[in-house]
Amino acid sequence: MVSLLVPALWVLLSFFAYHANSTPYAGRPRQSAGCTVNYFQGIVPSGISIQSVQHVTTGSFSERGNLGYPTFPSGLPSLCAIIVKNDTANYRFGMFLPDTWNSKLLVIGSYAFLGGINWLDMGAGVQYGVATLATDTGHNSGAGDMTWPTTNQLRVNWAYQALEGSITLGKKLIQSYYNDRQIAYSYYSGCSTGGRQGLKQIQRDPDMFDGALIGAPAWDTKNLMPWISRLAMWNLPEDADGSISDQGLLSRLQAEVLKQCDPLDGMQDGIVSSLSACREQFDISQISCDVSTNKTSCWTQAQIETVQKMYSDYITEDGEFVYKGLDYSSEAEWGTFLMPAALNDANNVRRNFDAQYERTFMNYGSRWQITSYNDSVVDDSRARDKKSVQASADQFDLGSFRDKGKIIMYGGLADATVPVQHTTLYYDSTVEAMGNVDDFFRYFQIPGMGHCWTSPTSSKYNVPWMIGGAGQAAQVPPYTAGSSVPGFKDKEHDALLALMDWVENGNAVSQIIATGFNFTDSTGQSVRVHRQRPLCAYPRAATYDGQGLQNDASSWQCT
Ligand SMILES: *[C@@H]1O[C@H](CO)[C@@H](O)[C@H](O)[C@H]1NC(C)=O
Ligand SMILES: *[C@@H]1O[C@H](CO)[C@@H](O)[C@H](O)[C@H]1NC(C)=O
Ligand SMILES: *[C@@H]1O[C@H](CO)[C@@H](O)[C@H](O)[C@H]1NC(C)=O
Ligand SMILES: *[C@@H]1O[C@H](CO)[C@@H](O)[C@H](O)[C@H]1NC(C)=O
Repeated sequence: MVSLLVPALWVLLSFFAYHANSTPYAGRPRQSAGCTVNYFQGIVPSGISIQSVQHVTTGSFSERGNLGYPTFPSGLPSLCAIIVKNDTANYRFGMFLPDTWNSKLLVIGSYAFLGGINWLDMGAGVQYGVATLATDTGHNSGAGDMTWPTTNQLRVNWAYQALEGSITLGKKLIQSYYNDRQIAYSYYSGCSTGGRQGLKQIQRDPDMFDGALIGAPAWDTKNLMPWISRLAMWNLPEDADGSISDQGLLSRLQAEVLKQCDPLDGMQDGIVSSLSACREQFDISQISCDVSTNKTSCWTQAQIETVQKMYSDYITEDGEFVYKGLDYSSEAEWGTFLMPAALNDANNVRRNFDAQYERTFMNYGSRWQITSYNDSVVDDSRARDKKSVQASADQFDLGSFRDKGKIIMYGGLADATVPVQHTTLYYDSTVEAMGNVDDFFRYFQIPGMGHCWTSPTSSKYNVPWMIGGAGQAAQVPPYTAGSSVPGFKDKEHDALLALMDWVENGNAVSQIIATGFNFTDSTGQSVRVHRQRPLCAYPRAATYDGQGLQNDASSWQCT
């Protein structure tokens, strides 16, 4: 009897696995026999379908047709990879369930307006021994594509619903899969849109996570997106005297800011660490020269006036504050919103992405032009966000989350995509709403870091910014197999491990040592530590002791 049943079951399982568009069932997982479509189909409620289940033993996983996240992880521990779909709301989520599980869950955030499951960051996460989960946010789309938000369901999925529904169901599936073992701790890690999603989820349901690592959160969607359009407008038309249409000009400005402001923070190290000193003392007139001698490095007075608007907060003609200005030392990243991706490109950033939020997200229609922008778009964006989409994570009182969870938030001082001043505004507003929040919420500014992981100096990696934040590990070798901080997988250097220690053992985090690497070969396959420096819980900052090696973290103190 048994000998007859086993092959029959085997065939059945293989059949399901095959038809779920995955590689055939490769063997009995060590922890659970449940890594099959059949198992999951049997435990999900109606309206949910299991799209694929695969027991991954090769270290690699990929999903065909994923437009938002086309890079896939490698070096994976053996695990069960599963894709679940909510057929009603039309969103999907993926999970990596490791064979050897430490009873923790790590939810992974998304980026920008991308649609797809972020398997790469899930792969970095699963190396901590946790189960990981990420949603596709309800659509499939690549970089620069803002054509997808055609219905309110699609917008709301991206705003929060896909993530919330995915975590709620995902938690149940995880516990069943591991034979009813409870999830001991639930964590979150995301940067940019991922940072927004994490804050939003905490605001919507303070019981969802025990700890969240929030990078450069694009929390203020309703104001952020009109601000991007405003930036574009300040720079238009392209043939105006004040328009900045050459990346060379931005590089020139960046270099001048570095030259003048790097020494102001007491240490000439290629990093502008005091934005306030720079803001007070920077002499922009140094970049003006006779344009006829060099158009890509000499600035006209009109162009200087344009960037001065961009450095300033966006205030409407009625005097209403909308968004914080771009930060000094972030100039190399300004091209994201100011330069055309390519001339005549359908995804031309300046003419298209900047207007696309209004066209699709705000439903103004495809014929709406950025040149029609005026301050009323801000009011309308706010009204729509409040009334229906609710993408903005703009609640400052985090309520009962304080009693159960911890937040570590970080932002790069050289971030021009989500200006760090606006990240600081979130933190300051929370303090204003709740009083001192040190007991559960700490914020770390990262000098020299751009958006999430970039840095503008000539060598991208030797600014110390690696702290195990979302997406950072994939920036250095072993790239797709990366996780944590290479060589420093401990709570002193990895913000996620520091967060776990805070949540689980009550050790509050007052500093995190950030690491900067050098590539040691031209192919970028190996790195060596260049320098390490503590990041300090805001409003404190790291100061050099004047004696030790500048590149050693021990020569710095949070003061
Ligand atoms: C599917 O999504 C809808 C819309 O968000 C939600 O009401 C429903 O609860 C979800 N189903 C499950 C089983 O999560
Ligand atoms: C203009 O200035 C840039 C930056 O200093 C330099 O690389 C380039 O060679 C200059 N071009 C001319 C025509 O002098
Ligand atoms: C401002 O822009 C909106 C949206 O394009 C448009 O409907 C409105 O007429 C404009 N208002 C003025 C005063 O131009
Ligand atoms: C890293 O690169 C910098 C210049 O970018 C150089 O000064 C430094 O010596 C390098 N450090 C190591 C350890 O290779």
